[in-house]
Amino acid sequence: MEERNFTHQPVLLEEVLAWLNPKSGGTYVDCTVGGGGHAAAILESSSPDGRLIGLDQDPHALEAAARRLAPYGERVTLVRENFINLPRVLAELGLPAVDGILFDLGVSSPQLDVPERGFSYHQEGPLDMRMDPTMHCTAADLVNNLGEEELAGIIARYGEERWARRIASFIVRKRQHQPITTTSQLVEIIKEAIPAKSRRSGLHPARRTFQALRIAVNRELEVLPEALRQAANLLLPGGRILVITFHSLEDRIVKNLFRHLANPCVCPPGFPRCVCGQKPVLRVLAPGGVVPSEREVNLNPRSRSARLRVAEKLRPVLNAAGGE
Ligand SMILES: C[S@@+](CC[C@H](N)C(=O)[O-])C[C@H]1O[C@@H](n2cnc3c(N)ncnc32)[C@H](O)[C@@H]1O
Repeated sequence: MEERNFTHQPVLLEEVLAWLNPKSGGTYVDCTVGGGGHAAAILESSSPDGRLIGLDQDPHALEAAARRLAPYGERVTLVRENFINLPRVLAELGLPAVDGILFDLGVSSPQLDVPERGFSYHQEGPLDMRMDPTMHCTAADLVNNLGEEELAGIIARYGEERWARRIASFIVRKRQHQPITTTSQLVEIIKEAIPAKSRRSGLHPARRTFQALRIAVNRELEVLPEALRQAANLLLPGGRILVITFHSLEDRIVKNLFRHLANPCVCPPGFPRCVCGQKPVLRVLAPGGVVPSEREVNLNPRSRSARLRVAEKLRPVLNAAGGE
């Protein structure tokens, strides 16, 4: 693959710093370090000795982060890993808990902009979409091998695409003649499948289907709830978890999980006191989420669908005997 500069404009940067409030001496995890934009700002704010652990499953992102974060020397540890494995990563580093954890979900600009990665419906490329190139299943594998029902289900569920059934049926018909291997082949099929009147309204007709396939290939929504739960467990009391999402499916998962961890009690509403023993773990901050300013959206249109959610780890409530 041709070497290109990996530049990604970090979204909601000021807001992330304000809510994470990095301090010198603190240890922070960036679970989606990408090009290292948020990570560099966290390291600046936690100077002179704040530490940052950066994870990414994409080796190209990690190389870019290594270049960008080199000036911070030993304060930075970069690990090529899926964030579902954060507990193991921190255990191997001898870190039982940390002061703050950031997830900036979705794809980075370079992943979208490099045609060979196959994420973009604007550019011709192989139908790949793997963030981690060692994973076995590509978007082409799904499109050429799944049954029509399953394909329609993925496009409907992960793309919230109203024409999912028609798109799946067109894909299955076309692939009988020739395998679908490139982004532009798939774009053409989607354009044929969506009636002209609906195609004229607003967004690119392939946007939802591409989002759906990307989510399915990278199993994005499958790992998220468990990863967030684990992250909450790995925070020190008073530590914060920040999650930036880019579509409503992701955002709903984060919102509901934070709510559940803030109020996990499953006792029937009429019970005089809690007997289920489920104790709150987090306190939700900024309940509606934080969205980018108009200025940021004008400067970086890719930020327009971003929403930041924040929660804080509760301090254990001690009983009279000093136990929890
Ligand atoms: C929006 S970008 C992050 C950009 C970064 N905040 C910056 O300032 O450059 C998202 C990154 O998360 C990575 N990613 C997505 N899901 C992941 C997962 N489950 N585990 C590890 N990395 C993941 C992607 O490879 C991508 O590089």
